[in-house]
Amino acid sequence: MRSIIPFNTDWLFTPADVSADVPDSQFEPITLPHTNKVFPYHNFDNHEYQFISTYRKRFKLPEPRDGRRLFIDFEGAMIASEVFVNGVKVGDYEGGFTPFSFDITDFVDETRENLLTVRLDSSERPDIPPFGFVVDYLTFGGIYREVALRYVEPVYVKDVFVRTKDVLTKSPSVEVDVTLMNHSSQPVTITLSSAVATADGLRIDNDSNQIALPPNQEHVFTVVGLTALGQVELWSLTHPALYTLELEVRHNGQQIDLQTSTFGFREAEFRKDGGFYLNGERVKLIGLNRHQTYAYIGAAAPARLQRKDADIIKYELGCNIVRTSHYPQSKHFINRCDAIGLLVFEEIPGWQHIGDNDWQGISLRDVEAMILRDRNHPSIIMWGVRINESQDNTALYRATNDLAHKLDPTRQTGGVRYFQNSEFLEDVFTYNDFSNTVVDPVNMPHLVTEFNGHMYPTKSFDQEERLVEHALRHARVQDKQLSMSSVAGAIGWCAFDYNTHKEFGSGDMICYHGVMDMFRLPKYAAYFYESQISPDVRPVLRAATIWSMGDRSGGGNDPLTVFSNCDEIDVHVGDNHIGRFQPDRAAFPNLPHAPFTVPGMQLWLTWGGKLPVLRVQGYYNGQPVIEQKIDCSPQPAQLLLLPDDLELNADGADTTRIVFKIADQYGNRLPFAIKSVSFEVEGPAELYGENPFPLVGGHAAMYLRAGRNPGLVTIRAKADRLPDASVTINLI
Ligand code: GAL
Repeated sequence: MRSIIPFNTDWLFTPADVSADVPDSQFEPITLPHTNKVFPYHNFDNHEYQFISTYRKRFKLPEPRDGRRLFIDFEGAMIASEVFVNGVKVGDYEGGFTPFSFDITDFVDETRENLLTVRLDSSERPDIPPFGFVVDYLTFGGIYREVALRYVEPVYVKDVFVRTKDVLTKSPSVEVDVTLMNHSSQPVTITLSSAVATADGLRIDNDSNQIALPPNQEHVFTVVGLTALGQVELWSLTHPALYTLELEVRHNGQQIDLQTSTFGFREAEFRKDGGFYLNGERVKLIGLNRHQTYAYIGAAAPARLQRKDADIIKYELGCNIVRTSHYPQSKHFINRCDAIGLLVFEEIPGWQHIGDNDWQGISLRDVEAMILRDRNHPSIIMWGVRINESQDNTALYRATNDLAHKLDPTRQTGGVRYFQNSEFLEDVFTYNDFSNTVVDPVNMPHLVTEFNGHMYPTKSFDQEERLVEHALRHARVQDKQLSMSSVAGAIGWCAFDYNTHKEFGSGDMICYHGVMDMFRLPKYAAYFYESQISPDVRPVLRAATIWSMGDRSGGGNDPLTVFSNCDEIDVHVGDNHIGRFQPDRAAFPNLPHAPFTVPGMQLWLTWGGKLPVLRVQGYYNGQPVIEQKIDCSPQPAQLLLLPDDLELNADGADTTRIVFKIADQYGNRLPFAIKSVSFEVEGPAELYGENPFPLVGGHAAMYLRAGRNPGLVTIRAKADRLPDASVTINLI
């Protein structure tokens, strides 16, 4: 039978290219996912992660092999891996964003301890995408995703491609390409059975098939006839129903493999009219781009943080689509998108530059690896098969498109470009539009895949006017695209600030292009996205102000912008009722929830005047549903520690974000209360972050990574003139 055993603990690491005779004592024990270097939040040199490192793992086989084959599966290592077992090379892989596996059966010794060694080159190798020229992001280094050991019988299921058919009819069905591998030198006849199960345990079994497998090769068998499903629950944005396909392989009456795959019934299509249709209904796409970068730990974020990003994009930012710019991202992120109903546009690694033939060969291999890994995910609606913003290359892009269509005839392709007259070889014209409006499409269907970004970098501690304008630029472009029936949607640049090369960004190795900062904490632009959430889901009301007398040029707070999904708002300043206001439909006629513009604030807030309390109340269907009150004090009164989770798994990798914040007595963040905050940790966990942290902006975050022993972990934070803050997290 198949066994999959996580292989993430008890690794050894040294940041050097060392030979086998270097003793383990010169290595450091680590758990995967791992970054080869922990960085400060900004102002560091990316050359610091560009080196060859050596990973070792000594292991006895966790289970007897019993004639099974043994594979080692890497989800991702940056960026070129050579893998050895007991000193013998079992394979290598060039590329940091796609998974790879090696059959190590013939290299392991079942009777004694084995040595697995990975020689990992994390330099920006010009022969491997995305490198060869400059790129506007950092890749970081290390075995930064998980590893597993996989035991399979000599005959096993190698790949499963589930295709749903006639989804919108009364008789939907499933067709499955099952790649079966017969690793033995004999022909083998097996019985393949299949069943589909719903989340609540309902099972529909299909007839089984006898299949003769020729020796020493793979064989693709298409299971048809999973038709007895009756009415299915569709996978949609609000109700992302998931199903499980179960495949069982029997030989001589004995079960030899059991494989499950998650999938969903949905129809996703960009049509000639310019629209995107999900299950036959037109949906305007509103989304953001995501880089997989985290402060301090680079790309080595474990499952919990990956899932959290999907949740932030869907629930905190109200988006319905994310683009995995500019590479395939963690399976945990994509799985979560499936589970919560967040659409994904996934693309191959690359940025503007196209390398030589070998480099292009890796790109084609990436197309294949991405699609084979991810083609069962209902959330993925399109494959990006161009190097982001590269020049035309007819031969390469014919090949990437053909390959994508061959591997997955169910999905359309896009290829992100930034010049309009580029050769259109894909199904969807995916266009980075930095015009600060939206250009009329020249080709259809048309999806805006980036806007804003470097045109208006904005820090969370910038002056208020800039933060408001940043938000309004997102609002204007989304408003405009919503008015254009020939545009399927717009995906802004970008969700989160990210570390970059010195050739880009603000000179401190950060592109401040996010609607949230690198800690996933909101700027006002995040409030704009959040305010597009339906009020039936939850009321949103965010006044875009720190409510100060003189941060804006000239002082005061005029006009006041409020992002809300309410029908109306009441604004009070001190005891004065300023008025009841409606959304600014004149400026934003197409947004579901236009921002509110409250004029005349100079009457109530004047240069040198008193700062009364601001109170904004939101009404939905005539009822008051939400209120925001800002009573401000310039005195820092509280240091707050706000963890996302109070419980972590003691597996050596599980990690949570801990936000810290300097606030006044009312809880308002004080963005300009610049202070050094220091931390103490007691218990079996490690804190990732600068300690002390020179806090600018009033809030930031650390990451707490669980150790491998259960117990309580207390984190204490201190800042000058403020009471200490502390939280306790339970490792189980
Ligand atoms: C685009 C590019 C993105 C990012 C963005 C900044 O041209 O595709 O990766 O650099 O500009 O606005």
